[in-house]
Amino acid sequence: MKSKFLLDPDVIFLNHGSFGATPRPVFDVYLDWQRKLEKQPVLFLGRELQGYLEQARISLGHYLNTNPNNLVYIPNATFGINIIARSLDLGQGDEILITNHEYGACQRVWRFICKKTGASLIKQAISLPVKDDDDIVDQLWRGVSQRTKLIFVSHISSPTALAFPIEEICARARQNDIPIMIDGAHAPGQTKVDLQAIGADYYTGNCHKWMMAPKGSAFLYVRPERQLSIEPLIVSWGWEPEPNISTGSQFLDYLQTWGTRDHSACLSVPAAIQFQIDYKWEEVRAGCHNLLKYVVHKMTEITGLNDIYSGSEGFFHQMAALPLPEDVDTLHLKDFLYETARIEIPCYQWEGHPYIRISVQGYNSAEEIEQFLLALKFYISHERRGTG
Ligand SMILES: Cc1ncc(COP(=O)(O)O)c(C=O)c1O
Repeated sequence: MKSKFLLDPDVIFLNHGSFGATPRPVFDVYLDWQRKLEKQPVLFLGRELQGYLEQARISLGHYLNTNPNNLVYIPNATFGINIIARSLDLGQGDEILITNHEYGACQRVWRFICKKTGASLIKQAISLPVKDDDDIVDQLWRGVSQRTKLIFVSHISSPTALAFPIEEICARARQNDIPIMIDGAHAPGQTKVDLQAIGADYYTGNCHKWMMAPKGSAFLYVRPERQLSIEPLIVSWGWEPEPNISTGSQFLDYLQTWGTRDHSACLSVPAAIQFQIDYKWEEVRAGCHNLLKYVVHKMTEITGLNDIYSGSEGFFHQMAALPLPEDVDTLHLKDFLYETARIEIPCYQWEGHPYIRISVQGYNSAEEIEQFLLALKFYISHERRGTG
């Protein structure tokens, strides 16, 4: 499978999570779109683009089980979060509730918007190891108050690779009439995302991570009842659109147009979906998950530390974060793994504790995993350099 990707064959790539990786056939489609654009830019951007984008939204809508008109293509999940943050009507006394597992860039969006509007950011800790879904929802709800204007939670978190019980969280938010946004940067492609079943008000997801589309492809979903409250992040031709360029949806008009740009990455999303169908990706995913279960078990043996998922495999999919002994210098370990064994894997501090996060994707072999385990074991027993 690795030969189907453009990845360096000499690197053991265990960090699909950060930026994804695109298979050759999908990348070829991406280049074809760019060539098509360059062949006749006016025809492409001026007359054909809306139709191409619509086809790409239909394909994604089918994949995510929602009406394609509830989806708009954007370059990345950060962009989607900024759109929602800028569209909320926030003021002094209002509260945005997030967890302590959220991605750093997203936390910055919420801190920025709170500073600007006078709202408060409430960061609710979800303790580890996790117990069960109900316990996670109950812990999150300790941060809810009468002033909560939005709950923001990852579908699969970045630092802890934790699969949050988002259907339960969205159901409880709806019962309490609190808008909720899900950060699905890591979810589509890693697990089944059914937007209808999830029931979020806002959901943003990356196509360039686990769906394996080219970089710069992502989407924002907004529930129909909330679409009229969405503002364009970049004001362009879609604001007060000429009748001949309007899609008939304010949501799409406001967000789809923001000046001249290359849409090729988003237009290649149907090819990424087709790649998953052609290579029976549900089976590949299941194989990766089984390999990951094995790695998680082995890593706990090597480190002597329990996993953060309480041994429950439902809390992770193709990515898992494992705690490291407290005295491990994570930068030193990361460099050691890359310099001595060409293993690309993130090692970092989260909430003051050292972690390593492993991604298992279809291109990773059992041999690569064994090499990684060997290198980690060697490091922990011989090379470890303490932070103190
Ligand atoms: C949970 C989470 N949210 C959002 C993002 C941002 O994704 P992007 O950089 O594509 O906007 C990431 C990136 O890794 C992430 O892990």
